[in-house]
Amino acid sequence: MKTIALVTQKGGTGKSSLAVSLAVAAAEAGLQTYIIDLDPQGTAKNWYERREADAPQVAAIEANQVPAAMDMLAKQGIDLLVIDTAGVDTPATISAMKAADLCLIPARPSIADIEATRATVGSLTKLGKSFAFVLNQCPPGKSMRTSDAYRVLNLGGVVASSTLATRADHIDALAMGQGVTERDANGKAAAEIRELLQWALNKMEGKADEQKTRVA
Ligand SMILES: Nc1ncnc2c1ncn2[C@@H]1O[C@H](COP(=O)(O)OP(=O)(O)O)[C@@H](O)[C@H]1O
Ligand SMILES: [Mg+2]
Repeated sequence: MKTIALVTQKGGTGKSSLAVSLAVAAAEAGLQTYIIDLDPQGTAKNWYERREADAPQVAAIEANQVPAAMDMLAKQGIDLLVIDTAGVDTPATISAMKAADLCLIPARPSIADIEATRATVGSLTKLGKSFAFVLNQCPPGKSMRTSDAYRVLNLGGVVASSTLATRADHIDALAMGQGVTERDANGKAAAEIRELLQWALNKMEGKADEQKTRVA
């Protein structure tokens, strides 16, 4: 089982949105996928309650339950676990970081989000965890703001090569209990999420050529 955790102390960057859409895209690609929601706000859990499909399932649990839950999920044959966390530094966030093979740090291309990544990166570095920044809610198309943010973030670590634009599909998918790949399978948000998923899977497998295998 591989585990991706969405972490950053800043709220509103897209942790929950990316968690659910990445999980749905992974399930569509044939992976047994599960979501753990460690945020007391329960965004992912509430999303699942609005959802019609059964998979990927969501469990809202406490930080101290994470190791036992992961043992159980691995035994059940789960291929990919996605952990969503709160926008504050809590024991739950640390437990997610420890559990993860890869921590994704979403940031909007804004100075406040970029500054907010520092504390998270500090915690991850102390724990010796693999992490990558994901630029989310970028202006669609090429933009100086996005390329500047990419460059600044890149000074502090790896930035996922796939960036995500601000797209209504993310807002609608969250409201409808869907992933963006279900909202509009041929849409741009869907393509960006599939690309990010593939990048993250390749990174966890330590593949040098990150473009080699493709998600269906
Ligand atoms: N790429 C995106 N395009 C448009 N809206 C987005 C995008 N990513 C997130 N959002 C919206 O931004 C808000 C915050 O996202 P959310 O996933 O709840 O962030 P977090 O979990 O980090 O607090 C939500 O209303 C969500 O629908
Ligand atoms: Mg959230």
